[in-house]
Amino acid sequence: MSSTATSSPECELEITDVAFGGDGVGRVDGRVVFVPFVLAGERVRARVSKRKHRFLFAEPLEVLTPSVHRTCPFCPYFGQCGGCQYQHVTYEEQLRIKHKQLVDILTRLGGFSPELPVAPMLPSPRQTRYRNRIDLHPAADGTYGFCVRKRPRDIFTLHDCPLFELQQDFSHYPLRRPNQLLVVRTHAGAPYCYFKDDRNNVTSEAFDLATQAPLGVTDAVFDVAGMRLVTHYASFFQVNRWILPTFLDIVLRTAAPEPSWRAVDLYCGVGIFTLALAPYVAQITGVELHSESIVRADRNARAAAQTNVSFAAEAAESWLARAATERRSLDLCVMDPPRTGLTNKVVSALKKLAPRVIVYISCGPDTFARDARKFVDAGYNLTAVQPLDLFPHTKHFELVARLERPRS
Ligand SMILES: C[S@@+](CC[C@H](N)C(=O)[O-])C[C@H]1O[C@@H](n2cnc3c(N)ncnc32)[C@H](O)[C@@H]1O
Repeated sequence: MSSTATSSPECELEITDVAFGGDGVGRVDGRVVFVPFVLAGERVRARVSKRKHRFLFAEPLEVLTPSVHRTCPFCPYFGQCGGCQYQHVTYEEQLRIKHKQLVDILTRLGGFSPELPVAPMLPSPRQTRYRNRIDLHPAADGTYGFCVRKRPRDIFTLHDCPLFELQQDFSHYPLRRPNQLLVVRTHAGAPYCYFKDDRNNVTSEAFDLATQAPLGVTDAVFDVAGMRLVTHYASFFQVNRWILPTFLDIVLRTAAPEPSWRAVDLYCGVGIFTLALAPYVAQITGVELHSESIVRADRNARAAAQTNVSFAAEAAESWLARAATERRSLDLCVMDPPRTGLTNKVVSALKKLAPRVIVYISCGPDTFARDARKFVDAGYNLTAVQPLDLFPHTKHFELVARLERPRS
C-alpha cells in the first residue's frame, strides 16, 4: 500500500501463506491482509474490500510474481462462484496447502505439537466430475443456481458444474419453489432431484430434473468396495464415491480392530463404516438420527448376511447416555459427525464409556481439533491423523484420526 497502507484502497504485498478457507495471507504495515486466489511466495497488487479491527480483506488486482504452482482454472464460473477456492493451483500443491492447514489448525486450535505425525493428504482419484450431489439455491426470478462468492444471497445460474458427475445445464429448469433448495443427485448415471427447506427438511419426493415428473422411487443404490449400499433418496452419502475404497481401507487400518471387540459406529448413515468393520469385530452397532437411513442400513446388513450388526435410529447423545448408565463395555467407537463436530453430551458420555480406541472421521478440521483436545485432556493419545482430499478444488477435506487410551 502507499504511504498509509491501511487507509489506501490499493496495496502491494507478499503472500506468505494460504489460510484454511482458501485466502492468501500477507501483511501491510503490520496488519494481516486476506486475499483470495493467490499463493504463498507471490507478490500481488490488491484492492481493500473490507476493514476489520485487526485485519483487512482485499481482492486481487494483479499477480506481479506468479508462483510456479499457479495454473489455469478450468471452469468459467471460477472466481464468481462460492464453491471452488483452488482451481488456480496445481493439484499437487492443493494437497500440500491443505496438509499444512491441517497441521496449523491442530497446533493453533487443538494445542497439539507441530511434530504430531499427520500423514500426507491422500489425493482423490478424480479431480473433476467427482461429486454425486449438488445443492442449488433459488434466485429471485424463480430459477436455480449457485451462490455468488462472498454474496450468498445473490444467485447466478449456470450451464455446467465441472465438479458434478454429470454434465448438466442447470439454467434450463424454471422450478419455482420460493425459499426451497433444489438438491440434484446422481443414481445409476442419471440425475434425480428433490427439494429441501432451509432447515434441511426434505419437502418433496424424488423427481426427474428434465420433466419434473415424480420418479416414484425411494431408494438409490451404490456399490462400494464389494458392498452394496441401498440409501434412501435423501440419505446422507459421501459425495465423492471414487475415493471411497481408499477411505474405507484407511478407516479399517486406523481402527485396527480385534476379533473380540465390541464396537459402535456413531452417525452411521446407511452403515457404510458399520458394514466395512463388521467382519473384523465381535459385535457392532450403528447409530443414526435419520430413520429412513437406518431402515436401509438394516436391509444392507441383512443382504450382506452380517449377523453381528444392529442399528439404532436415535441421536448419538441418547444412545451413549443409556450405554454409559448401563455401563456397557465398548472397545471401539467409530464416529463421523456433521461438520459442527461433537456435542458436549457426546463427549462426556464417551469419556464415561472410555472405549479403548476412538476413530474420529471428520470434514471439519477445526471442530475435530477442539474435540480431540478434550479426549487427549481426558487421557487419550492422538496417535494417527490421515487426511484425504474428498473435495478437490474446494477448501474442504476429510480426515481419519485414531485416539487411544494407553494400555495400563
Ligand atoms: C457426515 S454424515 C456421516 C454418515 C456416514 N458415516 C457415512 O459416511 O455415510 C453425518 C450423519 O450424522 C447424522 N446425524 C446428525 N446428527 C446426529 C445425531 N445427533 N445423532 C446421530 N446421528 C446424527 C446425519 O443424519 C448424517 O447421516
